[in-house]
Amino acid sequence: MTDKYAVIGNPIAHSKSPQIHQMFAAQTVQDISYEAILAPLDSFAATVERLRAGGYKGCNVTVPFKFEALQSSTRVEPRAKIAKAVNTLKFANNEIIGDNTDGIGLTDDLQLNLKIDLKNKRVLLVGAGGAASGVFQSLVTLGAIVSIVNRNKEKAQLLATSRSFFTNLVDTPQLPFPTNNAKEHNSNRIDALGYADLVDQQFDIIINATSTGLSDEMPNIPKSIFEHALLAYDMMYGRDTPFMKFAREYGAAVVSDGLGMLVEQAAESFFLWRNVRPDTRAVLKKLRAESPIA
Ligand code: ATR
Repeated sequence: MTDKYAVIGNPIAHSKSPQIHQMFAAQTVQDISYEAILAPLDSFAATVERLRAGGYKGCNVTVPFKFEALQSSTRVEPRAKIAKAVNTLKFANNEIIGDNTDGIGLTDDLQLNLKIDLKNKRVLLVGAGGAASGVFQSLVTLGAIVSIVNRNKEKAQLLATSRSFFTNLVDTPQLPFPTNNAKEHNSNRIDALGYADLVDQQFDIIINATSTGLSDEMPNIPKSIFEHALLAYDMMYGRDTPFMKFAREYGAAVVSDGLGMLVEQAAESFFLWRNVRPDTRAVLKKLRAESPIA
């Protein structure tokens, strides 16, 4: 019998997840269906219950329901607790297991597709909202030295310090900060900045986790930041954002949108549900060919 899965969001019409999961299923010969479901803004929990009652095996969850999905879970995996968000639900033995594959989706795209080793790389994570919260821990776990910058610096500080609160939950490295800035960073691998603090700073990787691409704006990052950057990455996909254009113009060696992250987070969800790893490269190549961005 075909196992049923879905992605729940609002809006959802734009979602590429059904296409991605159907490609994974064809490739790995898994008998599944996967559809996009638009949930009314006040009916996320009811929609999940309807799917469970209908025999679905799990679902992905996207904007704006990732926090509600965390609350709906009867068991929450550590990485979803840290992200304070759930993007993958698995329905099994009367449990609703909540997990978050966004962080590993990003780091898999950086490491496997873009061939960037994160160990000891200086990463500037721009933004401290839901998107940043989903990924910062994965970057630190792989050895990156992460600075979170946000207009509202207090929010960046909260995110940076929330990590130490969770260090007992997961085994993350607490290595000494390898610059002469050790005092400021207090032997930690993560810190918080305001935009004014960026002047004269250098980073290897700059990741845009703000929502600015949606409104064709960009965060107020100085040009000089990109001069020696190995990579400028926008977590948004499907368009050449002002951040990407700016980074290209001012010297970033590689500029990428977040399509690879989308495919990799989907692959991790697929693995959680089916215990089979799809070949993400073939799927990413096909999607890129269908909608080139630059
Ligand atoms: P998401 O879930 O997409 O992260 P969010 O939780 O609303 O959405 O967070 C949006 C992020 O984009 C925040 O970090 C926000 O900065 P503030 O917390 O200071 O508001 C950031 N953002 C939105 N518009 C921005 C802009 N024009 N310049 C810089 N940052 C911006």
